[in-house]
Amino acid sequence: MFRLSFLLIILLHLAVTGLSADEFSRHDFPPSFIFGSGTSAYQVEGAANEDGRTPSIWDTFAHEGKAQGATGDVACDEYHKYKEDVQLMADTGLDAYRFSISWSRLIPNGRGPVNPKGLQYYNNLINELTTHGIEPHVTLFNYDLPQALEDEYGGWINQRIVKDFTAYAEVCFREFGNRISYWTTVNEPNVFVLGGYDQGYVPPQRCSFPFGFNCSRGNSTSEPYMALHHILLAHASATRLYRNKYQGKQHGYIGISIYAFGVVPLTNSTEDVIATQRASDFLIGWVAHPLMFGDYPEIMKKNVGSRLPVFTDHESKQVKGSADFLGLIHYSSVYIKDNSNSLKQEVRDFNADMAIQLVNTLPDNTSAYEFPVQPWGLRGVLEYFKQVYGNPPIYIYENGQRSLRNSTLEDMSRVKYIHAYIGSVLDAVRNGSNTRGYFTWSFLDVFELLDGYGSSFGLYYVDLNDPGLKRYPKLSAHWYSHFLKGNMINSDYVFKLNNNLSTLCHTHCFQ
Ligand SMILES: *[C@@H]1O[C@H](CO)[C@@H](O)[C@H](O)[C@H]1NC(C)=O
Ligand SMILES: *[C@@H]1O[C@H](CO)[C@@H](O)[C@H](O)[C@H]1NC(C)=O
Ligand SMILES: *[C@@H]1O[C@H](CO)[C@@H](O)[C@H](O)[C@H]1NC(C)=O
Ligand SMILES: *[C@@H]1O[C@H](CO)[C@@H](O)[C@H](O)[C@H]1NC(C)=O
Ligand SMILES: *[C@@H]1O[C@H](CO)[C@@H](O)[C@H](O)[C@H]1NC(C)=O
Ligand SMILES: *[C@@H]1O[C@H](CO)[C@@H](O)[C@H](O)[C@H]1NC(C)=O
Ligand SMILES: *[C@@H]1O[C@H](CO)[C@@H](O)[C@H](O)[C@H]1NC(C)=O
Repeated sequence: MFRLSFLLIILLHLAVTGLSADEFSRHDFPPSFIFGSGTSAYQVEGAANEDGRTPSIWDTFAHEGKAQGATGDVACDEYHKYKEDVQLMADTGLDAYRFSISWSRLIPNGRGPVNPKGLQYYNNLINELTTHGIEPHVTLFNYDLPQALEDEYGGWINQRIVKDFTAYAEVCFREFGNRISYWTTVNEPNVFVLGGYDQGYVPPQRCSFPFGFNCSRGNSTSEPYMALHHILLAHASATRLYRNKYQGKQHGYIGISIYAFGVVPLTNSTEDVIATQRASDFLIGWVAHPLMFGDYPEIMKKNVGSRLPVFTDHESKQVKGSADFLGLIHYSSVYIKDNSNSLKQEVRDFNADMAIQLVNTLPDNTSAYEFPVQPWGLRGVLEYFKQVYGNPPIYIYENGQRSLRNSTLEDMSRVKYIHAYIGSVLDAVRNGSNTRGYFTWSFLDVFELLDGYGSSFGLYYVDLNDPGLKRYPKLSAHWYSHFLKGNMINSDYVFKLNNNLSTLCHTHCFQ
């Protein structure tokens, strides 16, 4: 996961009610609904310098010590341990595994010759998954642009990326597509460009004064909009290629994922209610509007003006309708406060153009490390997609609870979180949401972007002190497995699980 840094204010004690379904089993969901878990290439594979892989912009960043001094050089070593991990997924009962392909492992210079060892690795992983009956959900781009393309022409701020991304996508469709039914082109481009081009605290670390974190290059007022525009064009181009050349015989689906907070007006004032609509248009509509309607939301065009790139008629037609489904990344909710004053600033970035403040809320007994359990936020987002964007098929591709990595295998807060959020998905589905699947982030305790190995979201703990990087199930793995195997989940089960810890962690307990 990858959080936004512009949560400016923290308010305590803002109570919001709304209970989610508490007692359910997976049989309450439609029979075709799938449950899975995910990781991404740089965060899990390791083998960063092996078998012809070259650095991505994340390797460079981490090696400059900017990810808490940690790197993904080894991570969970899934590159070598994929068989063990797939077995663990099968034992857990996952229907599906979401992973991403490392572009610079498959095509080391970003374009040109394909690396046979990279090809072999992904073929092995995909075959291992499918022989275990686990459906692969593949993301092509998960922040890890080949450093070669960043150096050569500036990566996503240059329209040349569209051609190179499409060629990379074609290699994936051609080589793996006979076994892949679900392709995501780009993971949460909205937070990727805000982190990388507005605030600049993650690679490629571009931003400009007075915004962001003292970058050596960039332009916070224009580049986030340019980068996202090129991502949409690249997505549309890859989709067009897939549809024209591969979809007919491979019968898969292609989409893109969007990061979405749950949003609630801070007060019932007209200003805050309008600001909340504006927040949805900027944060979700930025990606979803062009896909559904062929253009950016009106309020973005008005507030951003000439800094917002314009789609030609041709581009608009290609972008519109270019997703068979949407991936949704959701962790938490925020309160929205109007900040129209920021529109008076002469020099504005995305945040100032959006003219709101995001107000984070934490109950006073939730550690700042953990997300408050607010399942109504996810339900609200699903309702929003239903009502505003015509109820497209949705896969919830990331949702999960953060904790300190070394704290404990007895991750009761994660159990409570996923229990409540899966319950809220059930509520949304019962109310007509076209949600088709749910994936926890993350399957293992991976290299967390920004936190390195300090925080974790995994169902399985990875012991970094063990040269074999042994995996240990947390309570949440037991909970999810129990659910995935069709058992009824209710608060009684959670209570029993909580009282059963000694039988669960006899092999390895912390504290
Ligand atoms: C920005 O970075 C430069 C070079 O690292 C440093 O000298 C300067 O003090 C930094 N400025 C701020 C405001 O952090
Ligand atoms: C950023 O881009 C805008 C729009 O192209 C331009 O007006 C502005 O001068 C640029 N700012 C910097 C710091 O380069
Ligand atoms: C806003 O109005 C709704 C409906 O009347 C109410 O439930 C809610 O508590 C109000 N919110 C605030 C912050 O006053
Ligand atoms: C906070 O504490 C109250 C009272 O002990 C408890 O009911 C509630 O579940 C706690 N909330 C969280 C998020 O832990
Ligand atoms: C259920 O769906 C209806 C129709 O879209 C909508 O009006 C209503 O607000 C939804 N209910 C909830 C609780 O989201
Ligand atoms: C986790 O604990 C191990 C020792 O048990 C220690 O070596 C490691 O540095 C700790 N990691 C973090 C992120 O605290
Ligand atoms: C608790 O442990 C017992 C003995 O290992 C086991 O039979 C039971 O299924 C466990 N209950 C839960 C809720 O995990």
